Amino acid sequence: TKGNYRHFMLKEIFEQPITIGQTLATFMDEFGKPANGFEDIDFSKYKRLFIVACGTAYYAGAVAKYWFEQVAGIPVEIDIASEFRYRQPILDKDCLFVAISQSGETADTLAALRYAKAHNVGTLALVNVTTSTMAREADIFLPINAGPEIGVASTKAFTSQLAALACFALAMSEHTSFKDKETIMRFTKALTELPDTVSETLRLDAQIEKLCLGLSSAKSVFYLGRDMNFPIALEAALKLKEISYIHAEGYAAGELKHGPIALIEPGTPVIVLAAQDPLFDKTVSNLREVSARGAKVYLITDKAGAKIASEMAEEVIILPECESFVSPLIVTIAIQLMAYHTAVHLGTDVDQPRNLAKSVTVE
Ligand code: M6R
Repeated sequence: TKGNYRHFMLKEIFEQPITIGQTLATFMDEFGKPANGFEDIDFSKYKRLFIVACGTAYYAGAVAKYWFEQVAGIPVEIDIASEFRYRQPILDKDCLFVAISQSGETADTLAALRYAKAHNVGTLALVNVTTSTMAREADIFLPINAGPEIGVASTKAFTSQLAALACFALAMSEHTSFKDKETIMRFTKALTELPDTVSETLRLDAQIEKLCLGLSSAKSVFYLGRDMNFPIALEAALKLKEISYIHAEGYAAGELKHGPIALIEPGTPVIVLAAQDPLFDKTVSNLREVSARGAKVYLITDKAGAKIASEMAEEVIILPECESFVSPLIVTIAIQLMAYHTAVHLGTDVDQPRNLAKSVTVE
């Protein structure tokens, strides 16, 4: 049931401190080390990962690419399942195929998994529904344990996919010794603290709800981010269009001048996802560019970022401090609430948006 919540989506957004905790408990041992569930993976065998998924699950994979490369030093290719399955990708023995899916039944992702199996490549499925076809057919099955997700727009499954992938990347880093132990310990600690950090982020709900009144009259909304916030910008745009039917696009902030800036006119909402990190200044210069063209900038940042860039933004959402390693999960909470409240302001059917199904079992 929805309990006291108006929609399943809102309930599932607010469940995330618990569901992320469940995911972490699945993969972390009693010492808080991400070690459980990865025993069947012969890490020494794999030199490359191939992540394949659709929609929101694909964006989880796109964030994970940064993690695997940055902490485990392992190259990652990522593809949309409907592209992968038809373009004859080159797979070899030292490559591990990773399918990500909430339902475990998405037709294109399943076909991609079968393609990998048919090419004798090791397969792993990161799935929520434990009784699903992908969970059964992959060589290795990692359950994310987010519990049933009812809202068509994926929320808690996404953050659990991310939490599971972060554990996976850290487990892999143990074997590659790519990153120093101290950094890995810091990242691991930040992961274990995530349920609390997410709870803290959820307290921004009222502020975000209010700010969405302004967004709901927009014709078009842009999300900008760099590094791991780039795939989160894509996820943010997907979430908004899915349930509010407002046209939205996510862009890598650095791509702005290669075309999309032509679309910015006075009043266009641009949502900038940028915590204070080594790339912050670069994103701020993009922020300045859109603001100079009259864009209405909403800045999602942390305290340090707000200090530097608040003046250029119409509204600032200040997220709790956290390690940049886990920051995509925290930014996600804010963009989920934004999509939700904008849709509610517009009166759409949030849990059952038009033309969409929870599980896409036909291609
Ligand atoms: O069940 P899956 O994770 O394989 O589903 C993939 C996509 O269909 C799904 O994430 C879709 O994009 C959601 N509606 C996003 O909110």
